[in-house]
Amino acid sequence: MKINISFSSFFSNVQEAPWYVEFLEPVVSQIPSLSKVLDIGTGSGKLLQLLLNEKKSDCTGIDTSKSMLAEAEKKLKGMDVSLVQVTSGAAFPFQNAGFDEICICNVLFNLSFDNQNFLLDQALDVLNDEGRIIILSPTGTGNTKAGFQKFLKWNNKSFGLWFMLTRQSARKYYAQGHIQDFCKEKNLVCSRRIVFDGFGLLEIVERK
Ligand SMILES: C[S@@+](CC[C@H](N)C(=O)[O-])C[C@H]1O[C@@H](n2cnc3c(N)ncnc32)[C@H](O)[C@@H]1O
Repeated sequence: MKINISFSSFFSNVQEAPWYVEFLEPVVSQIPSLSKVLDIGTGSGKLLQLLLNEKKSDCTGIDTSKSMLAEAEKKLKGMDVSLVQVTSGAAFPFQNAGFDEICICNVLFNLSFDNQNFLLDQALDVLNDEGRIIILSPTGTGNTKAGFQKFLKWNNKSFGLWFMLTRQSARKYYAQGHIQDFCKEKNLVCSRRIVFDGFGLLEIVERK
């Protein structure tokens, strides 16, 4: 018997774990109801699902991966959302979009500085003057006791797997503090906060 599980469907299942919803919560809680949201690197669409259900957001999700977007389509079936495939390194396909909030969750820590800068520049181009870019990343560290409790509470191995798989890049990203440098250079305001029992880093970028 051939079992064919793609990474996208595996990732989509991970997003359904209760710990993953808790991980995304600091982002969801930042978004005012009814705002116009762009989710960059939306993957299989869990954040958009939460925002549509809890905040009635006007949601657009973009991703470079066709298979991730196919999973997002399944997850968001029947919901009023726009999903767009983009090409890495190409300008965003939006004109005068005016997003209120742009989310970038678990994407930047895996990218080079040049690619991070490119995505942030593109985001700034389609962000309202008062809008914010909300960036969530793993830290590659965290409160060991809380982490163990998360693992036990949900008896869900995906938390440990996620931690192991992201640890190295996440620690590097956290130590580099590149978003702060980007903001200094572009005269933007950046705030940084540890969330999810030390396992997550929330960075918020806005214009002065
Ligand atoms: C780890 S997943 C995160 C998915 C989702 N944001 C979340 O937090 O669960 C990273 C996603 O970013 C996408 N991605 C990577 N580089 C990208 C780029 N330059 N533009 C848009 N999406 C990108 C990948 O295809 C993948 O779906």
